[in-house]
Amino acid sequence: MPGGSAPGNAGAGHYTRTGAAGEGRGAGAGGVRAGVMPEPGAFRPANREDSVRLEGKNAIVTGAGSGIGRAIAIGYAREGARVVAGDIDSATVAGTVETIRAAGGEAIAVRVDVALKAEVDALFAAAFKAWERVHILVSVPGISTTRAFLDLPEDEWDRVVDVSLKGHYLCGQAAARHMAEQGGGAIVNISSICDEVAQANYSHYVASKGGVRTLTKAMAMELAAHGIRVNAIAPGPTDTGSEAMKREYAPIRRKVLPRVPMARLAQPEEMVGAAVFLACESESSYVTGISLPVDGGYLAM
Ligand SMILES: NC(=O)c1ccc[n+]([C@@H]2O[C@H](COP(=O)([O-])OP(=O)(O)OC[C@H]3O[C@@H](n4cnc5c(N)ncnc54)[C@H](O)[C@@H]3O)[C@@H](O)[C@H]2O)c1
Repeated sequence: MPGGSAPGNAGAGHYTRTGAAGEGRGAGAGGVRAGVMPEPGAFRPANREDSVRLEGKNAIVTGAGSGIGRAIAIGYAREGARVVAGDIDSATVAGTVETIRAAGGEAIAVRVDVALKAEVDALFAAAFKAWERVHILVSVPGISTTRAFLDLPEDEWDRVVDVSLKGHYLCGQAAARHMAEQGGGAIVNISSICDEVAQANYSHYVASKGGVRTLTKAMAMELAAHGIRVNAIAPGPTDTGSEAMKREYAPIRRKVLPRVPMARLAQPEEMVGAAVFLACESESSYVTGISLPVDGGYLAM
């Protein structure tokens, strides 16, 4: 589903997992977000007290200011990674980093527009300055407007595709050049179930996501020789609590939920397991070029 929105310094210490990093944003009892939607079989976060699958790894997570990117940045820190959290919104990404540090993790915040090469280069320069090496890139941002194809203006097409597709090329290339020199790494692109199925009034978004899926495959093919694995995650409709999600909640409930076998939206934290799996060499060493649906069964129908 269309997700996304319209358009520091390293701390130290060991991650204790006693605080906010384990939270769901706005989560109520049992980790279920209060308010937006009562749902059957709702998500309850796992207790991962003894898991540090990304210890010793440095990860850049873009779009880390909110939603899925924020959940992955916090989840990676919980697994022991040092995180460079990038986002176009410097206030929200500072909040993500504050949450990670408050729980004893290490993270820095960098403001970046992933559609602009100069800003992507500055993001990677900040990461190298902080920690010299980058082992993992999670490339997250995707934005959309709701617009009939017949009415879609060129500038709207350009901005959606620039952020939602070109951003993955710019960040992926910067990461891959560095990873090729250091002998390997893992790249995870956040795609969508719309990388496989279309949705009316989102032609720019679904075209971008189809591009993310095939870009992921092309990168995987070319970069395997350099020890770099490239995969995507295809989330189903996810309750990020964003304004866009609130605005589109009624049509999503009417049109999309009936097609989700699990009959509920995902929580952003439900993307973390797949993102850790795809980044973790010991768990997914022979996995590359896939787009892994995390969609409550949507694409199975
Ligand atoms: N929420 C869903 O239902 C859903 C479903 C399928 C796929 N997705 C995908 O998941 C990803 C994250 O979406 P989300 O729902 O968590 O959105 P969100 O709006 O909650 O978070 C997106 C983040 O990206 C940042 N961002 C936007 N443009 C940027 C840019 N040019 N440069 C850097 N940062 C930028 C925003 O400031 C925000 O913090 C997107 O690629 C989206 O397409 C979301």
